[in-house]
Amino acid sequence: MGKIHAAITGVNGWVPETKLTNFDLEKLVDTNDEWITSRTGIRERRILKTEGWATSDMCAEAVKGLLEKTGTKPGEIDLLIVATVTADMVFPDTANTVCDKVGAKNAWGYDINAACSGFLFALATGAQFIQNETYKKVVVVGADMMSSIIDYTDRNTCVIFGDGAGAVLLEPKKDGTGVIDFVLRADGGGRHLLHMKAGGSLQPASHETVDNREHFVYQDGKRVFVHAVKGMTSTTEELLRRNKMTTDDVQWMVPHQANMRIITSVAEHLNFPMERVMVNIQKFGNTTAGTLPLCLWDYENQLKKGDNLVLTAFGGGFTWGALYLKWAI
Ligand code: UT7
Repeated sequence: MGKIHAAITGVNGWVPETKLTNFDLEKLVDTNDEWITSRTGIRERRILKTEGWATSDMCAEAVKGLLEKTGTKPGEIDLLIVATVTADMVFPDTANTVCDKVGAKNAWGYDINAACSGFLFALATGAQFIQNETYKKVVVVGADMMSSIIDYTDRNTCVIFGDGAGAVLLEPKKDGTGVIDFVLRADGGGRHLLHMKAGGSLQPASHETVDNREHFVYQDGKRVFVHAVKGMTSTTEELLRRNKMTTDDVQWMVPHQANMRIITSVAEHLNFPMERVMVNIQKFGNTTAGTLPLCLWDYENQLKKGDNLVLTAFGGGFTWGALYLKWAI
């Protein structure tokens, strides 16, 4: 009998209908389509405008579609993990709300806050419950409503981010498919370069924090860029080395969609051909924890059972890493 791995047996995504194009942003801040396209690769992003909706609603839409696609009943879900930095509220966590909204009455769940690496961290975590035979069905969601924490007067950040959610179902497989290995890292020393200053216990919300616009994403883009390229490249190299693989053995690289120049730079460093790199940044921008599952969802029809995929991400924290899986469907 083969070893049990946590295989992705279904993937689904959900993005809001409303598009925010580069031309729309030209009207909000001092920027232009040419700058945004050439410096980031982004042409438009989706923004959640539905009255009363939040991150949990995007998650719920993604999960409902996932359950339908895979013929899974909500009551069969054992565990549901949501990776997000835009939880509906500080507490309770978003996963609880999502379980309620999709009718997952027999599940428990929790949120993972690892910014743009959130889905990677959540996937590695969820996989453990399958691999050690605790559970049979684990749902992992990556979702962010970045528009709720973006300052649309700050051109350094507002051109990059968008809203969206992606979800996968993990089930045990003994045919060699599934999550095989991962290299994950965190370094809190980078926390000041990409963060939200107020709203936590360090600086609770006050008139002053609101006046100072401290409830929005702050990023030192240039420095984050350099760390992102280094971190994604080095963890991917380590992952390949210890699995005795070269880039020729990998059918698809699935990189976090933060900036097209980061993606091409990582691919160049790894000598990985761009034709096999998943890219959808042009239409969704950076959806933080949503980018990786939204890529899998977008490219699903091009994937074949047994394909080797390397997912890699870098985000606030700092957090980063790479994960190797064999596609199961
Ligand atoms: O997902 C989590 C991790 N996040 C990332 O990985 C993001 C990493 N960083 C980036 O993607 C890029 O650093 C940005 C897209 C944020 C910025 O691009 P950049 O090429 O690093 O630009 P920069 O900050 O070096 O700025 C270059 C120039 C500056 O003007 P001066 O000082 O040279 O006159 C900026 O003020 O571009 C200016 N600029 C803009 N111009 C037009 C910055 N943002 C804009 C803008 N439109 N939106």
